Formats: sequence, C-alpha cells, structure tokens
Amino acid sequence: MELAGKRVILGITGSIAAYKAVHLLRNLVREGADVQVVMTPAARQFIGPLTFAVLSGKPVLSEFFDIETGAWNSHVDLGVRSDFILVAPVTAATLGKCVSGIADNLLVATYLSARCPVFFAPAMDMDMYHHPSTQSNIKILKERGNIIFEPSTGDLASGLEGKGRLPEPEEIIRLLKAHEENPAKKKNE
Ligand SMILES: Cc1cc2nc3c(=O)[nH]c(=O)nc-3n(C[C@H](O)[C@H](O)[C@H](O)COP(=O)(O)O)c2cc1C
Repeated sequence: MELAGKRVILGITGSIAAYKAVHLLRNLVREGADVQVVMTPAARQFIGPLTFAVLSGKPVLSEFFDIETGAWNSHVDLGVRSDFILVAPVTAATLGKCVSGIADNLLVATYLSARCPVFFAPAMDMDMYHHPSTQSNIKILKERGNIIFEPSTGDLASGLEGKGRLPEPEEIIRLLKAHEENPAKKKNE
C-alpha cells in the first residue's frame, strides 16, 4: 500500500510501548501520510499529546466533547473519512472493547464507525498476550477482516522475556507498505 497522501488515524492506547508511537508517527509523516492521532484517556497517562500534535500538525483527539465549550469530535466523521486506522500499540483492554463494541472512548467509537481497513499492533506482557481471552479477541478481529501485526519476542517492560513487544516502527511501516490494497474495499472516497 502506498502511504503518501493517505488519511490515517493513528490510535494510541495505554501501553508502556506508547513511546514508540512517536517514532511511528514521524515515519508515517515522512512517508507523506496525513495523520490524525487519537489517544485513549489511558494513553495520555503514559505519554503527553504535545509531541504527537507537533509531529502530526494537528491537535490530538481524545474526548468526545469539551465540557466547557460544547465543541465535539465526530467519531463518525473520523471513521468515514479515513483511508485506514492503525492502532499501535493496542492494549488487551482495547482489543476486548473493539470486539464487544464497548464504545466508551473516542478511539473505540471511531473504530466502530470506520469503513476503512484497520490494523492493530498489540503490545503487552506475554501472559496477557497468550491469555485465551486476548487470543480469542485477536481471532475474532481477524475473522471480521481486521489486520493484526504479530508482536515480536524479546525483553518486555515487565522484566520478563517473551512474545508481546510492539514491533519496531520501521517494521510496522514495512508491514503497512507490504499490505495489498483491495480496490473493492475503498469505500471512503
Ligand atoms: C506501567 C503499565 C504498563 C502497562 N502496559 C500495558 C501494555 O503494554 N499492554 C496492555 O495491554 N496493558 C498495559 N497496561 C494496562 C493498561 O494501561 C490498562 O488496561 C488500561 O485500562 C488500558 O486502557 P486503554 O486500552 O483504553 O488505553 C499497563 C499498565 C501499567 C500501569
């Protein structure tokens, strides 16, 4: 898939690997993508939005609306206007919410509204990754046509070693580029 000119939603969730999303965003922008970052409230506890806003050239979206002004972010518009969504890193919690349709944050609501391809890059402790609940959620998401990038194996933030690392940003870019676009599925023109 060509990344230049693509309208991309980069979803970031509450994983320690959220710091890698900075580099990922930089690479997407370098490739010519137009990126809107959407962070879950938990993700903002791990890394502040300012760097993402500067690198993407747009304010980061997290909330459905601003309680002071009533300004609101339309998850429907976000989902419909994007060429693809990449959630990297995606937590076990967000995978579960996407499977069950628990749209209690802007990212999951956008996912449920999207008509475009969605890529998930899970990152978590190996036991969380191998848990039957996580594996079943991944299987269901794949069956529904989403694309899951396998985590890599190595040392984890928990101090353990195993499968659950977010692939390096360059590898995620490589996987996106290797993905073959299905012209019949380009519903968002
Ligand atoms: C230090 C720390 C690191 C965490 N790292 C991960 C992680 O890598 N993957 C994961 O699935 N959850 C991780 N969690 C748990 C999530 O932050 C938690 O489930 C949160 O509710 C996820 O919310 P979100 O998916 O809406 O962003 C971590 C929690 C802490 C305190």
